[in-house]
Amino acid sequence: MAKNVQAIRGMHDILPSQTPLWQLLEDRVRNVLERYGYREIRMPLVEQTELFKRSIGEVTDIVEKEMYTFDDRNGDSLTLRPEGTAGCVRAGIENGLLYNQVQRLWYQGPMFRHERPQKGRYRQFQQIGVEAFGMAGPDIDLELILITHRIWQTLGLSDGLELQINSLGTADERLVYRELLVEYLSSYLDQLDEESRRRLKGNPLRILDSKNPDMRELIAGAPALMDHLGEESQAHFDAICAGLDAVGVVYVINPRLVRGLDYYARTVFEWVTDRLGAQGTVCAGGRYDGLVEQLGGRATTAVGFAVGVERLVALLEEAGIEPEEQVDAYLVLMGDEPQRQGLLLAERLRDQLPGLRLLTHCGGGGFKSQFKKADRSGARFALILGEDELAKGVVGVKNLREQTEQQEIALDQLAEFFKKNEENGI
Ligand code: HAM
Repeated sequence: MAKNVQAIRGMHDILPSQTPLWQLLEDRVRNVLERYGYREIRMPLVEQTELFKRSIGEVTDIVEKEMYTFDDRNGDSLTLRPEGTAGCVRAGIENGLLYNQVQRLWYQGPMFRHERPQKGRYRQFQQIGVEAFGMAGPDIDLELILITHRIWQTLGLSDGLELQINSLGTADERLVYRELLVEYLSSYLDQLDEESRRRLKGNPLRILDSKNPDMRELIAGAPALMDHLGEESQAHFDAICAGLDAVGVVYVINPRLVRGLDYYARTVFEWVTDRLGAQGTVCAGGRYDGLVEQLGGRATTAVGFAVGVERLVALLEEAGIEPEEQVDAYLVLMGDEPQRQGLLLAERLRDQLPGLRLLTHCGGGGFKSQFKKADRSGARFALILGEDELAKGVVGVKNLREQTEQQEIALDQLAEFFKKNEENGI
């Protein structure tokens, strides 16, 4: 037998048994975003490598070691997008969507990072991302956080998630702070691990994000950027906190929250849970006022976030949330003429009842086997059409989910039967 070709490590199929939960999540998120006036944008999965180097930053895990980069046949260096913000900004500049305008955008789709796969961390994963352009004040930061909060509410997930926020100040403020931090860390050089020593020159703020338990105390004692914010950055941050307090959204200020991408300034936030093991961040984002200009556009303020869909799906599964069944009725057809007539009946029902999810049995077979398939389909009702029923002008209707007698319903009354059931919420 030929050897199977397998999927790539860290890249998963989402099977038909799983898609209903994905669809439930996607529908609800889309609905919340529409209610806040966000519009969908779709970008390519592949971009020039340069785009990610210039936006995410050369000295970041993503650019240094996680990108799927290759030369295409022209010799251009291309990369499978590791995230959506860079591509969204590129598209916005290229299509004239940003300058002097306000944009509220969202996107959805796969992202690619060559990380070590584990539960909740994949090499191809899905994000739903939101980006808002042209609004400088804290009100839009607040709006985005409230959107995320409403998403959790509509999914029934509010309980297990904690909002952490921080301010990274402006680029200038960070420069001053960076010196203080390097000075502090340099005086404990012997306590830094190898990775942190390397980061000390290129990206010292990332050291604060280290998960190495041996460095915990050292990091806890480091000066906090929060204590070195300028007046405007402080006011911006305070206004967000005040807004969250007013709406009653609980948050934790985490001065060590620095994020793994370089484009952020001022507000950063994450939603974390302890229910998913090590990969507990289900949503992350922040303000990136400098990025549009950095990528060649005119200076435009911006803020956004992205939700990790796999992690959110895992949370829904953990919470025992099950989408409703997908099939309302399964049409069992016994004999040649019932098969021909059944097709017409099914089409008529679909004309009359646009909401009805009806599976018609195909491929023949005995009554028992068809009935088994009806049951396995998850349908609430089996509709049975054989020679006898056809002669009488009726259809046998059996509720597969309740212990009730099979009934006979006249062919022309069938649509009415389903309408009534729907009204009764069955
Ligand atoms: P990020 O923190 O790199 O930010 O990713 C956002 C979310 O994507 C994470 O919180 C996590 O839920 C999910 N995620 C990231 N990597 C993986 C992975 N390997 N497997 C599974 N899920 C993953 C961004 O990507 C920014 N573009 C967010 C943003 C938008 N900031 C402003 N606008």
